[in-house]
Amino acid sequence: MDGKWRCHWAWSCTLWCVLAYTVSEFTGKSIVMATGKNSMHHKQGRRKLDDVTGSICIDCGIAEGLDYTDDKTQIHYTSDAQFIGTGTSKSISHKFISDTPQRTFTNVRSFPEGKKNCYTLRHPEGRNTIYLIRASFMYGNYDDLNKLPQFDLYIGVNLWDTVMFENATHVVIKEILHVPSLDELYVCLLNTDKGTPFISALEVRHFDHSSYRTKSELLSLYRRFDIGSTTNEIVRYDKDVYDRMWYPYNLPDSTPLNTSFTVDSLNHTAYHLPSAVMKTAVRPTNENDSLEFEFDTGQPTSESYVYMHFAEIEVLNENECRAFDITLNGKLWAEYVTPTYLQSNTIDGNQSIRGSKLKFSMHKKPNSTHPPILNAMEIYIVKEFLHSPTNQDDVKAIIDIKSHYKLTSSVGKSWQGDPCAPSKYSWNGLNCSNNGYNPPTITALYLASSGLGGTIIASFLELKFLESLDLSNNSLTGPLPDFSQLQHLKALNLSGNRLSGEIPSLLKERSNNGSLLLSVDGNLDLCREGPCEEDKMNIAPLVAGILSVVVFFIVLGIVLNIIWRRRCNRKPASKQAVRLNEEVVLKTNNTQFTYSQISTITNNFDKMIGKGGCGIVYLGSLQDGTQVAVKMLLPKCPQGSQQFQTEAQLLMRVHHKNLASFVGYCNEVGHTGIIYEYMAYGNLEEYLSDARREPLSWRQRIQIAVDAAQGIEYLHHGCKPPIIHRDIKTANILLNEKMQAKVADFGFSKLFSAENESHVSTVVIGTLGYLDPEYYTSSRLTEKSDVYSFGIVLLELITGQPAIIKGHQNTHIAQWVNNFLAKGDIQQIVDPRLRGDFDFGSVWKALEAAIACVPSISIQRPSMSYIVGELKESLEMEAAREKEGINSIEINVVDLEALCGPDAR
Ligand SMILES: *[C@@H]1O[C@H](CO)[C@@H](O)[C@H](O)[C@H]1NC(C)=O
Ligand SMILES: *[C@@H]1O[C@H](CO)[C@@H](O)[C@H](O)[C@H]1NC(C)=O
Ligand SMILES: *[C@@H]1O[C@H](CO)[C@@H](O)[C@H](O)[C@H]1NC(C)=O
Ligand SMILES: *[C@@H]1O[C@H](CO)[C@@H](O)[C@H](O)[C@H]1NC(C)=O
Ligand SMILES: *[C@@H]1O[C@H](CO)[C@@H](O)[C@H](O)[C@H]1NC(C)=O
Ligand SMILES: *[C@@H]1O[C@H](CO)[C@@H](O)[C@H](O)[C@H]1NC(C)=O
Ligand SMILES: *[C@@H]1O[C@H](CO)[C@@H](O)[C@H](O)[C@H]1NC(C)=O
Ligand SMILES: *[C@@H]1O[C@H](CO)[C@@H](O)[C@H](O)[C@H]1NC(C)=O
Repeated sequence: MDGKWRCHWAWSCTLWCVLAYTVSEFTGKSIVMATGKNSMHHKQGRRKLDDVTGSICIDCGIAEGLDYTDDKTQIHYTSDAQFIGTGTSKSISHKFISDTPQRTFTNVRSFPEGKKNCYTLRHPEGRNTIYLIRASFMYGNYDDLNKLPQFDLYIGVNLWDTVMFENATHVVIKEILHVPSLDELYVCLLNTDKGTPFISALEVRHFDHSSYRTKSELLSLYRRFDIGSTTNEIVRYDKDVYDRMWYPYNLPDSTPLNTSFTVDSLNHTAYHLPSAVMKTAVRPTNENDSLEFEFDTGQPTSESYVYMHFAEIEVLNENECRAFDITLNGKLWAEYVTPTYLQSNTIDGNQSIRGSKLKFSMHKKPNSTHPPILNAMEIYIVKEFLHSPTNQDDVKAIIDIKSHYKLTSSVGKSWQGDPCAPSKYSWNGLNCSNNGYNPPTITALYLASSGLGGTIIASFLELKFLESLDLSNNSLTGPLPDFSQLQHLKALNLSGNRLSGEIPSLLKERSNNGSLLLSVDGNLDLCREGPCEEDKMNIAPLVAGILSVVVFFIVLGIVLNIIWRRRCNRKPASKQAVRLNEEVVLKTNNTQFTYSQISTITNNFDKMIGKGGCGIVYLGSLQDGTQVAVKMLLPKCPQGSQQFQTEAQLLMRVHHKNLASFVGYCNEVGHTGIIYEYMAYGNLEEYLSDARREPLSWRQRIQIAVDAAQGIEYLHHGCKPPIIHRDIKTANILLNEKMQAKVADFGFSKLFSAENESHVSTVVIGTLGYLDPEYYTSSRLTEKSDVYSFGIVLLELITGQPAIIKGHQNTHIAQWVNNFLAKGDIQQIVDPRLRGDFDFGSVWKALEAAIACVPSISIQRPSMSYIVGELKESLEMEAAREKEGINSIEINVVDLEALCGPDAR
């Protein structure tokens, strides 16, 4: 057997669903030859013939085991049972059976349940090679409703086409060429409330990689014509080894030509064109005319690829020739085409054509003796990829979870296709991040009361972006995996299971310091406290601590409430409102910098002045000498790009003397950065904690508090819609050389979309110690969350302590303050570095304001406007003291009644 024949046979094998040859004919080598450089096959070696590698032929809706070979096409069809777990099998109405072009149309699988139902196909030849996917539909009144349905067909996470019918016997066939980038391919039917989706047949074919070169991953078939057909029948397998379907077609004012010889009998091109198609053609009826024809795809925005196939089928004498030019929409598309006798040749124009109209004209060259001919042609339309599939690590993990626990509940049924996309059709029981830029990630998973048994498998730990996991009320046993690996995890509910062993120490630590809401109630064999004999009740003692602080503060709070409610009528300090566009797009303007400009500004990123989770801040200098801080986003930072966008969008529109001002940004592939004004004294956190620096005076501190409060107040009340910063903390308050404070880092900020909305539900974001407990438990975000965080900042300014006081046992600053307040020991609260050098009334006023900010119930907290008012008064008191040169008051015992005097009652 020579190489060519083996090659051809191997191709047939990968495409045939029929077992036409004996196994001994096939060797791994021949398959390697057939598929060229596809390295996968070297590994696979000998391939079994009875699997459907290379070709998948599914007759949807037939029972498992009822596989058959179609009489007409000789294609072997299998049941769809192994490709999908949902839907019901149906047969079309008897009266239409005789109308079916093929047996595959007599059964359908219909999907009365669920919004999205997907077939999962594994590419037999791996990714990055060309597949043809064909889905076929004929309604045939299979549901006895006599109502033609309409539904959407998706390939992966993107819309392929909408399926509609004209009558019960209308056969709809959708074909697409696909170069997959993922290992699994989903073909999904989406219910768009216009009838129940169903499908008759699904087929996958594999092409030689050198054919159909395009830059697009998805090409939807618009037309495929066998021109000049003498039989008027569709040509497909086994005449076409790739099983393309060639529809007979004749051009206007043309005359058919045919030959009885075989085209490409010895040498196939990469396109493997069927001789049956190539041996017929047309020429213009008047041989001096040109061949003219046109199509209209009906989509003005469409982008199409045209493939024209030629073979000379007339015998030309030595002094004769056939040569022609082809123009497309009036432009020369191919020049001097001279078909070879009985050898096919494809012209693809090498580029796509935009617009709905395709007007072809083929005219013979002046010295040509024969008119132009056309044997076959194909037109494909590019399908845009609008959505990206879910992060593939997440997909792998969640599929492992699905198959391990055999999820069969209603939740499990929706688990088909891509978990997160399209977002309207994401799986039940999970939430995804979806910022439109990065691939979606799974952020929350709710599998409470889902009948899960056995141990908690490690795949849960692969969901790296998980923020909330609920596995409560199942029958899970065994030890807890170390969920502390999930860095974003903020809530973990494992209650109501039968877990045993210990809680991993890091997990316990995060629960203790309040960064994780851990619930493990009702697991009787689980040991909760360090030495495992001790008794339970250790759910986030810190959170509990904060709550107990609150109980005390409520007493104070009631008093303070009366005060601030009385003052509520005061107008907000900033009356000027800025309108913020909801749909904000980064526009090119003079604030945009290129990466090379940024390089120059920062002197090649010479001086690093800060580093965060998602970015590095460099010192830079503009042409006029102004110093700036340049924050460059670290590549591969998962949420960074979104934060960058948010921040740049906000900064461009928000201007206030107490908000870090925006100089510009850089947004190039792989290089995103924001340029701010340079704040010489860095951030407040560093300043307060740096023992080498001169401690801030009380006057400076209260001025900083006023500045920051004004910045936040402006975000809340000066902007429409209001902006919630979401990450107020000392590290985000920057100080310039005049010790003026400005609020920075808007990466997590949130706009209220509607003005009337009182809150938004979000994924909880914030920093440990500053995070509003109510927001944390409810995910309901309001401006009061910033008020809480600002209260913590104020406490830090007063006490000089960090938000979480490290020690034998970590203590939250509110709890720490409370311990002294409870004892009436206010002296201990104030930062000793102030050495008593302050107006006591001023400090007390600030402390009152701070305490008013931190009740756990948000409605008990005042607005920022109130806080600004209080702090300004506090500042005035301190200023007055300094003016009058009054010395500090020695405080030993504090009389609460007396100190509250000036304001209350
Ligand atoms: C059904 O619709 C198809 C497609 O438009 C058409 O070709 C066919 O003639 C129609 N059949 C009947 C019975 O109307
Ligand atoms: C093929 O072409 C010849 C003329 O060249 C014509 O007589 C014959 O009918 C054609 N065959 C078919 C099947 O149309
Ligand atoms: C076979 O086709 C290839 C290109 O497809 C060409 O390079 C080669 O010369 C052809 N061989 C014969 C014998 O026609
Ligand atoms: C085509 O053009 C040539 C020369 O111009 C002429 O001799 C011939 O008769 C024309 N043929 C037809 C069919 O018009
Ligand atoms: C097709 O385009 C590619 C680049 O887009 C170019 O390298 C190649 O030479 C072109 N081929 C032809 C036949 O024009
Ligand atoms: C026709 O003209 C082209 C140049 O335009 C030339 O290359 C070709 O050889 C000519 N063919 C014949 C048969 O004269
Ligand atoms: C726990 O699950 C069972 C069924 O699995 C259900 O009947 C029960 O209501 C659930 N309990 C809670 C507290 O969710
Ligand atoms: C998940 O999504 C649902 C529905 O949009 C929402 O009610 C719920 O609060 C979300 N949970 C989290 C943790 O974001």
